Amino acid sequence: MDPIKNPFSPGAGSPPPELVGRDEVLEQARILMGRVRAKRPEKSLLLTGLRGVGKTVLLNEMERIAQQNGYRSILVEAHEEKSLAALLAPHLRRLLFDLNRMAGTGDKVRRGLAVLKSFIGAVRVSIGEVEVGLDIEPEQGTADSGDLEVDLPDLFTVLAEAAEERQTPVAILIDEIQYFSQSELSALIMAMHKMQQRQLPLVLLGAGLPILPGLAGESKSYAERLFSFPDIGPLSRADAAKALQDPVNLVQVEFEVTALQEIFRLTHGYPYFLQEWGYQSWNHAACSPITLEDVRNATARVIPRLDANFFRVRFDRLTPSEKNYLRAMAHLGPGPHRSSDIASVLGCKVTSLGPVRAKLMKKGMIYSPTHGDMAFTVPLFDEFMRRAIPEFQAR
Ligand SMILES: Nc1ncnc2c1ncn2[C@@H]1O[C@H](COP(=O)(O)OP(=O)(O)OP(=O)(O)O)[C@@H](O)[C@H]1O
Ligand SMILES: [Mg+2]
Repeated sequence: MDPIKNPFSPGAGSPPPELVGRDEVLEQARILMGRVRAKRPEKSLLLTGLRGVGKTVLLNEMERIAQQNGYRSILVEAHEEKSLAALLAPHLRRLLFDLNRMAGTGDKVRRGLAVLKSFIGAVRVSIGEVEVGLDIEPEQGTADSGDLEVDLPDLFTVLAEAAEERQTPVAILIDEIQYFSQSELSALIMAMHKMQQRQLPLVLLGAGLPILPGLAGESKSYAERLFSFPDIGPLSRADAAKALQDPVNLVQVEFEVTALQEIFRLTHGYPYFLQEWGYQSWNHAACSPITLEDVRNATARVIPRLDANFFRVRFDRLTPSEKNYLRAMAHLGPGPHRSSDIASVLGCKVTSLGPVRAKLMKKGMIYSPTHGDMAFTVPLFDEFMRRAIPEFQAR
């Protein structure tokens, strides 16, 4: 059928034709924003889930909800090479300028800018980055110690006080939150702790791979009290069917039931894969209904496309020993797997694999769902690894 009319949207962060199965978490976000605006305490949200489940799409939707509720917002994406301070500073500057233009009296916005300036000065000294022009005298003694766990809470406090003065709540949305270092995450947690203690109108909405298991000690217990961690997973069979059927029904096309069953069998309900199979099946079908045969024929195209795009970009960033570790995991199946089992497939000691495991976690390829276990962050990655490296001998 006509590819131009194809309703499906495979791609990182591409809004799906219909955001299925996420009503509950979106409602949670609405409640959070309503309560914080009314100065009632509520846990911030950190969405966690595997690659391609729709975290970015949800975060964008939550930003829209925030704006509808009168929030000013910033949305940033963390990455491996950029520090939290460098990432946030320019956005906070813009936010303060926005607040400055709003009606209202008082000097808290100006103070916010002065503190931001001292914060930037302190980070530049300690980590040598960010240049954010601010034609203002820095305020000495606030947010300028160079210790992020002290400075970030100070900075958030003056920012939120400025927001409060202008009667405008603020939402900070951060995607790929797992790329922050331990100390950056703990600084964020401390900052949100302060927001809650003072009942200041600032919410944090984050998304990323599961981070809680990686947090230690005090940060972890604070995090559990301050945040809820909705698990964003694959869609149920019924929701997956709806995500495929509804968009095509709008243009008088339908999927046969057996076609839907086959797509669910292949995708396990993972949103990215649903979009990809929906997309190719549509293009492949000559007319409505889209049949099992169409889906089967489309599969022959989808797999190489996924291999070449979704999986391959991640694979190509790996060193030979990292590939070998993942291949050993794939040998054991979809997972999670015990570190000791992976080591025995590779014929070596668990301890000797510590460094390669740490690098794979840093690259966001694997995570530890529970102590001693390792799992892929990319759904169906085990199948891909077996296709990519067919010849593999377990020890
Ligand atoms: N609820 C949903 N129903 C149907 N399709 C969805 C849904 N949520 C997301 N998608 C589709 O899934 C794909 C992946 O979405 P998105 O990029 O938000 O995932 P992600 O979790 O952020 O992935 P990553 O961890 O790789 O950044 C997109 O093509 C999107 O259109
Ligand atoms: Mg994403």
